[in-house]
Amino acid sequence: DLKNVASFPIGNIVSASKLASTSTANTTFKQILNTEYNSITAENDMKMANMFTGPDTYDFSDGDAIVAYAKENGHRVHGHALIWHQSIPNWLNNFTGTDEEFEAQVEGYVKATVAHFAEAEDDDGNPIVASWDVVNEYFDGSSVRSSLFTQRIGNDFHEKAFQWAREADPDVKLFYNDYNIAGQVDKRNAIISMVNNFITNSIPIDGIGMQMHLNHDWPSSDLPTSIQAISDTGLLVHISELDVKVNYGDDITELTEERAAAQEFQYQRAGYYYSTIVPPAQQFGLTLWGFRDQDSWLYDGGSDWPLLYDNDFNTKISHRGLVAGLNEE
Ligand code: G3I
Repeated sequence: DLKNVASFPIGNIVSASKLASTSTANTTFKQILNTEYNSITAENDMKMANMFTGPDTYDFSDGDAIVAYAKENGHRVHGHALIWHQSIPNWLNNFTGTDEEFEAQVEGYVKATVAHFAEAEDDDGNPIVASWDVVNEYFDGSSVRSSLFTQRIGNDFHEKAFQWAREADPDVKLFYNDYNIAGQVDKRNAIISMVNNFITNSIPIDGIGMQMHLNHDWPSSDLPTSIQAISDTGLLVHISELDVKVNYGDDITELTEERAAAQEFQYQRAGYYYSTIVPPAQQFGLTLWGFRDQDSWLYDGGSDWPLLYDNDFNTKISHRGLVAGLNEE
């Protein structure tokens, strides 16, 4: 079992509807969730588009259901994600108020959401939601991504967001989350500069989420280099969305033995480098982005098989790879 092999939390994604469902597939999903994992992230339910339903109006019900499930079954919940350019509710996209009014809405949302989810505690009085991805994907390559937030608030919206979150909860761990931190050296360096700038200017930040959407032929050297560079910031390090595409070139019609072995190798390396490079005090955990291949955002009608379980919830050899890596083998 993954969680028993690792010396840090192992996570995967959930939705409130799957947790509530008693179908055979979802019963199996929950069995695996509770056996192999001890950390959960909402795939979509705790994003702004889902919870920020109107001006000064929030619907936390799906997140609350996830938190209740976590409490009942001994999981922590990692909050994902307060501000992301791809998850903006329609009404906010079309907001006709002034820029000051727009910013006040976003500030109110961040503070209300962090404060709300700080309330749930386990039996020992520890928070169930002890961390949030505050800003997701601020960078586009090494440049600041143009978004509604940069246009309406300014390029410093990310700094404000971290400060608002900290004001709402003095203890919650605040993460910056992004993709291609491994793989794109310029982007990684921009993120590290941002983090160092935060630290110099006393802008609160506790951790960095490396999404880790990999491919079967991901270059060998940059994975350890990037994990080392992110660890060197001294912050918590989260592998936050791990999966491994095997068919980005659309050149196979089923998962071949060769590709499965290449995928196993990538999962092994992700687990191994995270376990061996990140100092234990900075190991926030490793989170997979899905269970069955068919549930993945990358499945694409059956043209990719990026995860650890096949469509009948049997473990693939990719699972063996991750176990080996977590065992530091
Ligand atoms: O639930 C509706 C359904 O009612 C509707 O009929 C259908 C039609 O499009 O859409 C459904 O919502 C979709 C939702 O997934 C649930 O399946 C959204 O359109 C779709 O945009 C959404 O995609 C999610 C995506 O983020 C955008 O929010 C993926 O599930 C989710 O895996 C993906 O996750 C992101 C991370 O948050 C950030 N990092 C990248 C990662 C992959 O894109």
